[in-house]
Amino acid sequence: MRRSTAQSGRQRSALDAAYDECRRLVRTTRPTEYALMGLMPPAARPACWALYAAFAHADDLLDSSDGTPEERAARLRQWRTALEADLTSGTSDDPIRLALTDAVWHWGLDLGDLLGALEAVQRDGDRQSVATWQEWRERSHAQNISWPEQFMRLLVRCGLPVPVRLRDVPGFTRFVEGLFLADMLRDLPEDLDGGHVWFPTEVLDRFQVAPADLIARRWTPAVRRLIAHLTDEARAWLEGARRVLRGSLPLGPAIVLDTTVDLFTAELDAIIGAGPAALSRPVRVPRHKQWRVLGPARARAAAIWRLTLPPTTATPGGRPAAGPDADTAQSTPEWQPVPVAEPPLPPRPHVDGVRPPEIAPAQLPNHVAIVMDGNGRWATGLGLPRDEGHRAGAVALRDVVQGALEVGLRHLTVYAFSTENWKRSPDEVSKLFAIMRAELLDGELLQHDVRLRWIGSPEGLPDDVVEVLRSQERATRHRTGLTLNVCVNYGGRAELTQAGAALARAALAGDIDPSRVTEQQFAAHLPHHSMPDVDLLWRTSGELRISNFLPWHAHYAELHFTDTPWPEADRRDLWQALETYTQRKRRKGAATETK
Ligand code: FPP
Repeated sequence: MRRSTAQSGRQRSALDAAYDECRRLVRTTRPTEYALMGLMPPAARPACWALYAAFAHADDLLDSSDGTPEERAARLRQWRTALEADLTSGTSDDPIRLALTDAVWHWGLDLGDLLGALEAVQRDGDRQSVATWQEWRERSHAQNISWPEQFMRLLVRCGLPVPVRLRDVPGFTRFVEGLFLADMLRDLPEDLDGGHVWFPTEVLDRFQVAPADLIARRWTPAVRRLIAHLTDEARAWLEGARRVLRGSLPLGPAIVLDTTVDLFTAELDAIIGAGPAALSRPVRVPRHKQWRVLGPARARAAAIWRLTLPPTTATPGGRPAAGPDADTAQSTPEWQPVPVAEPPLPPRPHVDGVRPPEIAPAQLPNHVAIVMDGNGRWATGLGLPRDEGHRAGAVALRDVVQGALEVGLRHLTVYAFSTENWKRSPDEVSKLFAIMRAELLDGELLQHDVRLRWIGSPEGLPDDVVEVLRSQERATRHRTGLTLNVCVNYGGRAELTQAGAALARAALAGDIDPSRVTEQQFAAHLPHHSMPDVDLLWRTSGELRISNFLPWHAHYAELHFTDTPWPEADRRDLWQALETYTQRKRRKGAATETK
């Protein structure tokens, strides 16, 4: 199905009315979220209203006091089924579904993901309560992760290169949890009206609060302590997430993030200030407080969009035309690579505007190898799960690759997964693979002049990881900028053993004389024989080891160790390493320096 982009006047005015209806619904029922959408680029705002109106409508269908819970759940099921049909036919007789259908097609939104989020809202209709924080988190992710990701798709379509898969960005899931908890506290009076208590039973038990106390609006000391604890948690999650997330976002989205945290924190303050009233009526942030946050944010956002976006999307009314990829976005199988940018994008400048050092090409090392160590410790130090460290590590790698491109480095090799790393928990391993896959599929790395090469063995690796590594190697093989070797399922001794076995086979076949094996012959039998020798080997996080990394190629490498964990590294650390390298005297056993 393909909708015509040129619409008749009548269709157009129905569409305008549909978007207006969405705007009205969001403005009246979710004023904070509406204000935040006002910080998005003007052209993207109608799609934001459509997305949010669909979510709010689904939520309201369940929460309304009209009919039995079963009837409400049935109404939501019907609405979602009708939406699926509308999305296929490209039009609808319902304003919210019409606007959402238009937004999906015009902006290339992820239909499958959106329907999944709506289904998660629908599942709540059958639920009575939530037992543990873990269960609560899963519910929060299933319902809420997709929407901000769709907003990022809008920004990409506006011309801003931002990460779309926010779920892979460190701190993002914590941010979603903070918003979900703040929203739950804000909606408490309404939920209690419907007889629902959605806080996990484990926290109610801990504070010795029975759901009946809340439903009867009994402001006991235990209830007061519970509400104070939950608002503190929401505030801490939002603040913590802001600190981690900020570094991964360009200025425009960072303003939206900051304002979101500030406005929701103001709502949490108002809930605490309201005391017992917070159980029985909606609490509003005083207007002057809201304006103190929103006024400057609006001015800053408007200036940033004007500076960073093409005029069509930075001003009201402009909308991207439905491109051919609007279709492929719907039908691309899970593992199929997203086409890499052609021609590749130039390196993204550093957020602080720092420029690379001037190092003459002859002084630069040809090949730098990095042991990206300390992800796990960095995350646990911040009270985050270890996989958040790997997410942050992938973001650090993006920046270091930008720095390598800017300075003109030819070869960079990174240790992403060693054969020893299988000793980690299966959960950490599978999350790490998911992060790598996502990064190589639709992260920033391969949008630049980067030729990907995979160093390692397919043995034991999930098929989808092998598929992505191989297909992205193929897709980038013609690139001439930086060669990025990623070592995945790599072990140095295994590589040497393979070379030994290949030599033995060649000797048995009579192709070489075993009594005269040269270093060149040995090197030619290594699985990755075309990789140049490593000139500089850098390891982060204070460990002074090589850990089975490139024993053949790094035999004469200069070693560089830094104390900071890898997630805190960025391109400036690479440049510092390169400058240190230029000071080293490389004699390689000779009396005078050789390069
Ligand atoms: C070592 O830290 C790091 C890893 C085992 C994984 C590194 C992988 C990435 C940064 C993702 C790279 C993405 C692509 C696309 C190549 P650790 O967990 O051993 O840290 P610890 O010593 O503190 O436990």
